[in-house]
Amino acid sequence: MNKEIIVSGIRPTGNLHLGNYLGAVTNFLKMQHEHNCFFFIADYHSLTTHPNPADLHANVRQVLVEYLACGLDPEVCTLYIQSDLPQIPELYMMLNMHAYKGELERVASFKEKVRTQPDNVNAGLLTYPVLMAADIIIHKATKVPVGKDQEQHLEMARTFGNRFNRIYNNSIFPEPYAFNYGKELVKIPGLLGGGKMSKSDGDGNVINLIDSPETIRKKMSKAVTDAGPTEPNTQPSPAVQNLFDLIKIVSTEDKLNHYQNLYATCSIRYGDLKKDLAEDMIIYLQPIREKIATISSDAALLKRVVELGREKASASAQKTLDECREAIGFKSF
Ligand code: TYM
Repeated sequence: MNKEIIVSGIRPTGNLHLGNYLGAVTNFLKMQHEHNCFFFIADYHSLTTHPNPADLHANVRQVLVEYLACGLDPEVCTLYIQSDLPQIPELYMMLNMHAYKGELERVASFKEKVRTQPDNVNAGLLTYPVLMAADIIIHKATKVPVGKDQEQHLEMARTFGNRFNRIYNNSIFPEPYAFNYGKELVKIPGLLGGGKMSKSDGDGNVINLIDSPETIRKKMSKAVTDAGPTEPNTQPSPAVQNLFDLIKIVSTEDKLNHYQNLYATCSIRYGDLKKDLAEDMIIYLQPIREKIATISSDAALLKRVVELGREKASASAQKTLDECREAIGFKSF
């Protein structure tokens, strides 16, 4: 098989949740054996929210532990911390010179932040897609395993890479595309009836990989439903459809059919469904939860992994950056 270059990252905002796992990490696990993969912890990106230093470090460590617990193999792929690569902010700065206010203001994730956190609309938020483009194109990636929510950012990464090629008359950057092994990019729903599983709607909206059985039972019991079907064979409300979608992921097809039939015949009891789903979720996540606990106590392993990742990723990034410096006109005397 022809090996492609793959890049993807996750912001360290605490623990990984089921959306991160199914939208991104499950693809990483397979891809690492098939391609030349760079997976990182996007800690520069989390600076937009001004985390305190102790929290930032703890969160980076936790994502590293959870990446390893999920099965990322640092000997097979390149697993690194974004802030270990000064080449990334250097490329980001170069790309920023050709990124325009108007196009950045039109990005959906930026507009959402302007709406939800009007007191902290900083320049880092506006240029977030530029930094993300730098993350991706610094290794000349062609595929980027991400969930559906990142599609627009990938389009911008193509725009900025192509623009650099055109302006400096070269072909340094290939075009990166969002990727999922399934037919389509994935969007895992949250528990509170809204769109995607995301921490921005509170911890009650997400199932974290590390959540204990009691926490999962509690969160599932509070999952949003509706007043129940009043006529046979109607379309479930979005909140109930979310629960069916989660059953599809962690339970059996028989169980999904069972609850869909009960719904269609107006005899469903959401309490039973939620209890059943919680137990299957607990079983689904148990092996990862156990590995997280073991890896977390192995400080020597974590140090080794970070050093190895930094070395491999820097070599790749520096090569691209040297080409960019040359193309721009930063030449040695
Ligand atoms: P982040 O940290 O919000 O999410 C990490 C990954 O998890 C996916 N994801 C989901 N997929 C399906 N359903 C969900 N409910 C769900 N929630 C999260 C995201 O699509 C993502 O793949 N900007 C990125 C991080 C990043 C990055 C990059 C990714 C920075 N640089 C370069 C790829 C390449 C972000 O905030 O993802």
